[in-house]
Amino acid sequence: MIVVTGATGSIGRALVERLRGHDTLAVVRKPADDLGTDYALADFDEPATIGRLLSEGDRLFLNSSLWPGFVDAHRAVIDLAAHAGVAQIVAVSVRDAAPGAKLGGGMHGEVDAHLRKSGVPWSILQPTGFMQNLPRDVQNDRVYGSYGPKEVNYIDTRDIAEVAAALLTRPVGESRDHVLTGPESFSHERIAAQISAALGRPVHYVDLPVPEMTAHLERQGVPQPHAGDLAELMGTTGDGRWATVTTAVEDLTGRPPRPLSAFLADHRTQFSS
Ligand SMILES: NC(=O)c1ccc[n+]([C@@H]2O[C@H](COP(=O)([O-])OP(=O)(O)OC[C@H]3O[C@@H](n4cnc5c(N)ncnc54)[C@H](OP(=O)(O)O)[C@@H]3O)[C@@H](O)[C@H]2O)c1
Repeated sequence: MIVVTGATGSIGRALVERLRGHDTLAVVRKPADDLGTDYALADFDEPATIGRLLSEGDRLFLNSSLWPGFVDAHRAVIDLAAHAGVAQIVAVSVRDAAPGAKLGGGMHGEVDAHLRKSGVPWSILQPTGFMQNLPRDVQNDRVYGSYGPKEVNYIDTRDIAEVAAALLTRPVGESRDHVLTGPESFSHERIAAQISAALGRPVHYVDLPVPEMTAHLERQGVPQPHAGDLAELMGTTGDGRWATVTTAVEDLTGRPPRPLSAFLADHRTQFSS
């Protein structure tokens, strides 16, 4: 059986869709009949509720959004999966994850390190930023950031789901990291131009120095120290480190990742008018 955590999220929903025809169990916190697959109620905050769903030979997709208890909860579920004799864990991490890194990168780094020494065969997916963030990032036809003029890569979460589906349905292979990117990288000015073209109205990128971006995020309700860390991360991401493109999506799925233009065409209505 393939056990999918985070099944109601942007990756999880697309993954469940791609696993139709396979013996799949979606792990959800609330009844989710709209998923169209068998599901069980469980919560990472109580790892045993997920552990009891796992049996020898199962394949586990490990994913959830981040919260302060993320590292302990995910490590506990990995231990329970090892105890149950799970055959493979495919986990969602983030590009450049490492223990001690800021924000999600540090949390994922700790979970990734735990998974690598768990004894369970693993695949760690390390995607760049999600195109699915963009509708939320555009407010009043403006996108704010501290990226400067350099290029940054975004990936469509549907491509992450396709990679996960490929890894979870083929014979368990080598344990390794997979850095997942979209097919092209753009400056945020060019991203705003593409969004403008898709929406048929001008959308502008506003580049702010890190302290001003921090204040902007605080005004949006992001608490400190997250606001400062997030703005600083945008500043360092703007050095080009997230601009390089990998062939991992095509290597693993046999088709190239979706371009930004395709994402925008499919999600035009999600941008507020
Ligand atoms: N956003 C980015 O640009 C980006 C880039 C790289 C990596 N990532 C990583 O991608 C992951 C998120 O992926 P996503 O797009 O699928 O997220 P998402 O759309 O926000 O979905 C998160 C899923 O996690 C579930 N969840 C949250 N807390 C849970 C808990 N305590 N117990 C059980 N389920 C729980 C949610 O369930 P409910 O429906 O019940 O809330 C939902 O199904 C994170 O690890 C993040 O660090 C994000």
